[in-house]
Amino acid sequence: MPFPAHRPRRLRSSESIRNLVRETQLAPSQFILPLFVCPGEGVRKEISSMPGNAQLSIDNLVKEAQACVSLGIGGVILFGIPAAKDEQASGAYAADGITQQALRALKREFPKLLLITDVCNCEYTSHGHCGFVKDGEVDNDATLGWLTKTAVSHAEAGADIVAPSDMMDGRVAAIRKGLDTAGYLNTPILSYAAKYSSVFYGPFREAAESAPQFGDRRSYQMDPANAREAMREIALDLEEGADMIMVKPAMPYLDIIKQASQRFDVPLGAYQVSGEFSMIMAAAQNGWLDLNRTIIESLTSIRRAGAGFVLTYFAKTAAELLA
Ligand code: PBG
Repeated sequence: MPFPAHRPRRLRSSESIRNLVRETQLAPSQFILPLFVCPGEGVRKEISSMPGNAQLSIDNLVKEAQACVSLGIGGVILFGIPAAKDEQASGAYAADGITQQALRALKREFPKLLLITDVCNCEYTSHGHCGFVKDGEVDNDATLGWLTKTAVSHAEAGADIVAPSDMMDGRVAAIRKGLDTAGYLNTPILSYAAKYSSVFYGPFREAAESAPQFGDRRSYQMDPANAREAMREIALDLEEGADMIMVKPAMPYLDIIKQASQRFDVPLGAYQVSGEFSMIMAAAQNGWLDLNRTIIESLTSIRRAGAGFVLTYFAKTAAELLA
């Protein structure tokens, strides 16, 4: 006999009851803030499509990291914008590359702040593709060497976790071998295991100056139509030695997050990408959505789907809202 014996509204009747029965909790430690680092001094170059985000020179990056430490957020993920790009992505794995310099500065200032690095080539290649281009195609196996060198140089400079986002086959195994050979046995790999070829990366490509100069990324990033293939990608990365996995983007792919969390017993992250951020900001700036409530609801939905942690441009604001 359901109603009137059962009245679900009883458990919603006050803030204290709602707090008691809430199934999904948010905490600053679950948020990772993406940061863009560029050469120079005193640089803060706003990214027009991502209000509040900017390319930062190392001095300003350090200030931003101080705010992250004060707010207790889980960590930061670094994207480098090099002074010059070339066909070999040499800035990606240079010992004194922009990301490597930033890592050294941050590690020195904030030894406890978790430093994750995006391991990819698209910000460093003149053509903007994520790998070595041969006859107009991205050559998978030739790219693995670059990724390995990049990951090792990041670990050497102080990265706590390396996160390959290129979607080459076999990159996790190559990077694991490279790290182990170099003595970084304890540096975990967070694999962007299920990364879709998504229109939602548009604003990021302005931020990181990494738009492909010809073609698109559909020969390496996943088709948005595929879910079972995501499970296969994740399984392969785990076999190759990934310690943690990620689904990206987040809100349009909650079903993938859910399936991955039910299937794989490893830490799972989700990336609320630039386009997700910019859509919410645009609507808020128009007065169409309440910004703070949208931030909390979107992050809650991503966590509820099964993500343990979220890479989000809202990391600082969300932490402030939870304080
Ligand atoms: C690098 C990379 C991209 C993003 C993270 N790492 C861009 C791309 O694949 O084109 C996107 C992040 C975002 O949109 O916020 N390959």
